[in-house]
Amino acid sequence: MQYDTIRAIQWQDGKLLLLDQRKLPEEVVYREYQSAEQVADAIRDMVVRGAPAIGITAAYGVVLAAQQHFTQTPDNWRDCVESELDVLAKSRPTAVNLFWALAQMRHVIAANPDDPVNALLSTAKAIHEEDITANRMMGKLGSGLIEANSAVLTHCNTGSLATGGFGTALGVIRQAWSEQRLNAVYADETRPWLQGARLTAWELMQDKIPVDLIVEGAAAALMRSGKVQWVIVGSDRIAANGDVANKIGTYSLAVNARHHGIKFMVVAPSTTVDMDCVDGAAIPIETRDAAEVLNLAGQSIAAEGAGAWNPVFDVTPAELIDAIVTERGVVLQPSRDKMQAMMTAA
Ligand code: MRU
Repeated sequence: MQYDTIRAIQWQDGKLLLLDQRKLPEEVVYREYQSAEQVADAIRDMVVRGAPAIGITAAYGVVLAAQQHFTQTPDNWRDCVESELDVLAKSRPTAVNLFWALAQMRHVIAANPDDPVNALLSTAKAIHEEDITANRMMGKLGSGLIEANSAVLTHCNTGSLATGGFGTALGVIRQAWSEQRLNAVYADETRPWLQGARLTAWELMQDKIPVDLIVEGAAAALMRSGKVQWVIVGSDRIAANGDVANKIGTYSLAVNARHHGIKFMVVAPSTTVDMDCVDGAAIPIETRDAAEVLNLAGQSIAAEGAGAWNPVFDVTPAELIDAIVTERGVVLQPSRDKMQAMMTAA
């Protein structure tokens, strides 16, 4: 499809290739991974990021672990792979897609297949493909909510770089752009990692969709100006009552959107919904190194001696959300009952 050219996660000749997102937009470099430990480091160090992409990458990490241990220690491969599953699970805490994908891989191991490497590889590939299919479905459902001649504001990066391909919130934007519903796309630069400035802007430029960046502090003024009709974001984990964890700053956008009468859409596959999390307060929120706030591109930007608080996600309460879009359907004004109905529908 037009407007969809990037694939950041690739399986080639028994190895995993990841587009190194720390280097974008200056350099487009794919790195090669041959062990689960290397993959866990890549997730922790943000070579790959975005909830669905983290899950898919971890699934391929389990394949790498099986490849290595089934050849080296065929009698004891299962225990070795188990311990690598734990290493992968510790890479990042908030994106539930990671734990969902690892659980799928555990089921395969538990079924005791004759050829574990191939069984795990086909599951990893299916997780990858199904994510792209879900994204396309969400693109259509989400785009259907947007009136012609609208403009949208998005946050962080939720595109092909953050998923198997196409994207969640950015998939809706891709789809809406292709249907000529949008007259403008705005993206928050997204401090401190600049996922918006570096990644979303790069993706949209690759796919020839124009974008204007704003600093986060400009979001309320943009909303007040009447230039945007929707804020569209992704999620790392959606609780059973419809509370949504996403990149830090999302909650501020939702508060501002409600104040200005602008609609707020969350787009995420059902693999991001955690029905075991009763509400947003139960979602583990990752805090990263203060150095990420105190430095920019390796340069110190803060007064010497200053500290920093660096939670990298926040929770937006369900009452501030107009629509949650998954591949299973659209939940308007999310509530516990509506989430339950969506997750249990055929
Ligand atoms: O810290 P990151 O870059 O992994 O955070 C990513 C986000 O917050 C995304 O919005 C979320 O994972 C959804 S990606 C489709």
